[in-house]
Amino acid sequence: MDAPEIVEINEVRDETPTVKTFILDKKIKAEPGQFAMLWMPDVAEKPFSFSRLGGNIEFTLRAVGSFTQKLFNLKKGKVLGVRGPYGGGYFRIAGERICVVAGGVGLAPLMPLIDRIIEENKKVDILFGAATEKELFWLSELKSKKNNVLIATDDGTCGKKGSVCDILRDQVAEKKFDQIYTCGPELMMKKVADLAVREKIPCQVSLERYMKCGVGICGQCCIDPAGLRVCKDGPVFSAKELQNTEFGKYRRDASGSRCSL
Ligand SMILES: Cc1cc2nc3c(=O)[nH]c(=O)nc-3n(C[C@H](O)[C@H](O)[C@H](O)COP(=O)(O)OP(=O)(O)OC[C@H]3O[C@@H](n4cnc5c(N)ncnc54)[C@H](O)[C@@H]3O)c2cc1C
Ligand code: FES
Repeated sequence: MDAPEIVEINEVRDETPTVKTFILDKKIKAEPGQFAMLWMPDVAEKPFSFSRLGGNIEFTLRAVGSFTQKLFNLKKGKVLGVRGPYGGGYFRIAGERICVVAGGVGLAPLMPLIDRIIEENKKVDILFGAATEKELFWLSELKSKKNNVLIATDDGTCGKKGSVCDILRDQVAEKKFDQIYTCGPELMMKKVADLAVREKIPCQVSLERYMKCGVGICGQCCIDPAGLRVCKDGPVFSAKELQNTEFGKYRRDASGSRCSL
């Protein structure tokens, strides 16, 4: 297992009241959907997907718990340990007519994929859902690329009121997508994956599980019952592979005990 490389933070950007992007003084060759382990000495080490590739690497995080809240206190000039890129299962571009379904900060891992789809001159519909308008980010950038961008918010403050899955259902009824990509809260992704399987549309899902080693050794991130390792075989899986697994039902905490999603 590689030792973390100590890397300086070049810039911190506020995206929403709860989401920040950290731009690091490092370039890494990686694929869309791959991730790195970020280490804060005396705190912990946790996995985060690249939210931008090509130039200096970027990570876009939502503050939810102890690690992310401490990371949010780090300013430009401070350092982080970085190891990676990791993830043998990443987003593979396939087909011409593509639909990307993002929930909240789940847009972040999808951004390098969206960049690549656009570079390849393919058509992409981006469906983005969040709790409220203030939690939407990168909208002008997404729209400036002339993509079809459709928004849903839980409280109806922007776009359609309700779930992004409702928009997906309508879009699938109207258009013939070759491929769907999704990242966001697991219950949202489960609905997307089930719809895709039902409609026979190939679908790639980016999964989160508690990780320790990040490289396939410790078994912490295994998915029941097949034992797929999210860090090594994923984090991106096909919706078909995830059928009849724990996906959408439960996950495991740091001790390995089952807990709800
Ligand atoms: C491959 C991979 C890529 C990831 N990429 C990103 C990324 O790009 N950006 C990002 O913000 N996170 C990402 N994560 C999640 C990240 O690794 C952490 O698990 C997450 O940030 C929570 O860590 P924490 O210690 O701050 O919170 P914890 O102390 O672990 O959790 C605190 C509370 O928040 C809940 N919680 C945990 N995660 C979430 C969540 N995502 N949304 C809402 N509630 C949650 C927990 O159930 C708990 O109740 C990724 C995870 C994996 C496995
Ligand atoms: S985190 Fe150790 S096997 Fe995945």
